[in-house]
Amino acid sequence: MPTDRDAGDTTPPAPQETTRRLFFALWPSERIATQLFAAATRLARTSGGRVMRAESLHLTLNFLGNVPERELPWICRAAAGVRAPAFRFALNTLGYWRHNRIVWAGCSAPVPAVADLATALAAALRNDGQTDGRAAFTPHLTLLRKAAAPADLDLGRPLHWEVHEFLLVESLLTGKGARYEIIGRWPLV
Ligand code: 2AM
Repeated sequence: MPTDRDAGDTTPPAPQETTRRLFFALWPSERIATQLFAAATRLARTSGGRVMRAESLHLTLNFLGNVPERELPWICRAAAGVRAPAFRFALNTLGYWRHNRIVWAGCSAPVPAVADLATALAAALRNDGQTDGRAAFTPHLTLLRKAAAPADLDLGRPLHWEVHEFLLVESLLTGKGARYEIIGRWPLV
């Protein structure tokens, strides 16, 4: 059936809306990232899988997915409105998820400060946090992808992390996996 455009409409087609794949995260210090990377490299010897690069290791607070670019200013304003204190906690365990074959580093007990920050962010963004088909929010840093279950989930000595800021990050999908670019950062005070 002919459309209006076929019938002689000369207005140019609306350009495809640009979207950006975004998430909020905590980024570990170089010292922690280096130690996690060493643990990941060690684990990969028996579990196989793809080791995440040290500079890409992070803890996702809120995954936004593909967002129209025009929403970026609103998202940044929402982030700037989040009031939460700086805090410290320790990464002290490894975990494995069979459904996506991820080996991760995290915490053996809930960390209220991380959960509270994620909740405050979700409230500011007026979303429910990570509800995109995933189970309840489990703070974690993915170390290996496409891995087999590790023989044991011992991370070794706890890694103490002082958190002073949270970041908005863009995930750029490349042939060699995702590349992350920081879009914004906000202090915790
Ligand atoms: P993952 O490491 O457990 O895969 C960038 O992709 C970050 O967003 C990663 O930390 C990733 O978690 C997380 N992420 C990707 N897709 C997601 C989804 N659908 N829901 C929640 N988090 C997601």
